[in-house]
Amino acid sequence: MAGRGGKQALQHLHHLRDGAVGASRAHYSVSTASRGSTAEAEVMEPKSGERKKVLVLGGNGYVGTHICKEALSKGVPVVSLSRSGRPKVAEPWSNDVEWVKGDLFQPSNWRNTLDDVSAVISCVGGFGSNEQMQKINGVANVQAIRAAAEAGVKRFVYISAHDFGLPSFVLRGYYAGKRAAEDELLSKFPYSGVILRPGFIHGVRQVGRVKLPLNAIGSPLELVLKNVKPLSQLPLVGNLLVPPVKVVAVAKAAVRSATDNAVPPGIMDVWGIMRLSGD
Ligand SMILES: NC(=O)c1ccc[n+]([C@@H]2O[C@H](COP(=O)([O-])OP(=O)(O)OC[C@H]3O[C@@H](n4cnc5c(N)ncnc54)[C@H](OP(=O)(O)O)[C@@H]3O)[C@@H](O)[C@H]2O)c1
Repeated sequence: MAGRGGKQALQHLHHLRDGAVGASRAHYSVSTASRGSTAEAEVMEPKSGERKKVLVLGGNGYVGTHICKEALSKGVPVVSLSRSGRPKVAEPWSNDVEWVKGDLFQPSNWRNTLDDVSAVISCVGGFGSNEQMQKINGVANVQAIRAAAEAGVKRFVYISAHDFGLPSFVLRGYYAGKRAAEDELLSKFPYSGVILRPGFIHGVRQVGRVKLPLNAIGSPLELVLKNVKPLSQLPLVGNLLVPPVKVVAVAKAAVRSATDNAVPPGIMDVWGIMRLSGD
């Protein structure tokens, strides 16, 4: 992992250089994925006729529904792919999403969903046995990343997870799967793949028709922990002090990463997510 910082910085420079060709420009400052650094960047405004639809994998889940809603609020057309399709939310925005049913493990059944898609955001992941976690967090996303690259999708955002440095037997398959998907993303989308690594994500989770207010736990914790960043750089305690982040902040950072060429490729930690979302 240590070599990634340099590789990212190089990718960032290439990205800014390559992105400057053939698009109208506006200058502004953006914080990069690497902690604390800020770089001048250029916003690329899409040329007319360019495809701009975003495909949200797992768009009917907890994080996915917030991402769909955020993208629509920015005027971005959204299609969601998941096994069960349309969720039970009865809110008006859900009528504006194109809900598609499909299993990521069967790319031939959903590959055509990538037509006219400019960016993919994957929220597919989960828990279970080590084997199940490796498959759903890793294999399923690796296949999606490959299919998107083959279809000419321009940007890919993967919702990964902060590594809390737990003993290796705890959630082994979960983290192995996350890292396999991250490696595939950096390889297939070296200039436009963004990996978000939140810790605990708090907000309102819809379970069937019931809304669970996870922010009752997450907000106070976030308030305390986001102000102790220096402590988080200490080995041993550091990883456990990563603050929870609001689900709307993750959604904003994901949509921005999918639609703004100025967001640099590579890993975005929880502080990067907060900065990019303006949180
Ligand atoms: N929640 C947190 O606090 C947290 C923290 C850090 C990282 N994350 C990561 O963020 C991502 C989203 O988390 P979440 O809490 O929103 O999870 P979630 O609510 O369980 O959503 C998972 C989504 O994946 C879809 N899915 C599962 N298997 C699929 C398959 N084979 N093919 C297509 N779609 C499939 C599910 O829909 P169907 O069941 O209809 O297929 C659902 O839409 C995950 O990768 C998770 O590891 C979450």
